[in-house]
Amino acid sequence: MSKEYNVAIAGATGAVGIEMIKTLEKRKFPVKNLRLLASVRSAGKKLPYNGTEIVIEELTAKSFKNVDIALFSAGGDISREFRPAVVDSGAVMIDNSSAFRMDEDVPLVMPEVNPEDIKKHCGVIANPNCSTIIMLVAVAPLHRAKKLVRLVAATYQATSGAGAKGMAELELQTRQLLENQPIKPEAFAHRIGFNLIPHIDAFSDNGYTKEELKMLYETRKMLHAPELRVSCTCVRVPVLRAHSEALNLEFAEEISPDEARAILREAPGVEVVDDPANQRYPMPIDATNQDNILVGRIRRDISREDNRGLDIFVSGDQVLKGAALNAVQIAELL
Ligand code: HSE
Repeated sequence: MSKEYNVAIAGATGAVGIEMIKTLEKRKFPVKNLRLLASVRSAGKKLPYNGTEIVIEELTAKSFKNVDIALFSAGGDISREFRPAVVDSGAVMIDNSSAFRMDEDVPLVMPEVNPEDIKKHCGVIANPNCSTIIMLVAVAPLHRAKKLVRLVAATYQATSGAGAKGMAELELQTRQLLENQPIKPEAFAHRIGFNLIPHIDAFSDNGYTKEELKMLYETRKMLHAPELRVSCTCVRVPVLRAHSEALNLEFAEEISPDEARAILREAPGVEVVDDPANQRYPMPIDATNQDNILVGRIRRDISREDNRGLDIFVSGDQVLKGAALNAVQIAELL
């Protein structure tokens, strides 16, 4: 009989936690016992799993006894607080927060990009930021073929990036604005209904936000490309749950749009949607609930005199491949 694992999910009631439960079920992960952990507020409630219901337990330092794999999606502070308890109990933590991503002893892993890095873990493996994941599913295969040297990105990030409360705020404000009612921004710094906000995570001294710098540092770490140049503007848009990105790519070698399409058609986790004549291109409504990242609008960068530049557009489900699915794929790799 193949081995089965005791799995815990910390943050089980959040948008990503719920999707982690569904992803374990959908991918038939060999779960022996599943523990759902959350704050005391949710303890005692139940969530469905594989035709049964599992009672949610309060997350405490004792929650990890006999657990093999602990999936964390409850924010960086909770991950930092419970890391010693997880590691001391002998479990491996797969952490969706940004708490440990840049730590030397913590591999940052996408199964399609750098699966070999997982071997270096010392009890913690970090799941990258959703915008980085969605970008690299498409960019890593092109980088392997033609060596990426510079990348300029603009993101169009869905409200799901701020969790279930972000999505609820978009729905509520849309209704309120249509009915001329007053609105009160809570999940975002400004109104998100019928607006966009070029501000995700805190600002750094150099004028970039931390979200924008994650695109630089996480990409360099996973591609093992410390000299790669990346600039990015991250924008929150009134979309429910799939992130999109416009990417300008510069390679060391020449690459044509047709070559790029051929590479991407073979790439795991990618669906090429690139038929402008028939108005087919990636859109968040089509990427929602899909495991694959949609890639299209593939064209030569006409601002260059050589053939080393491409522009592409990607859309991917932030909650799935951007978070829960990648975390479960890391668990599968383990
Ligand atoms: N930082 C992302 C966002 C979500 O705010 O859209 C976390 O992966």
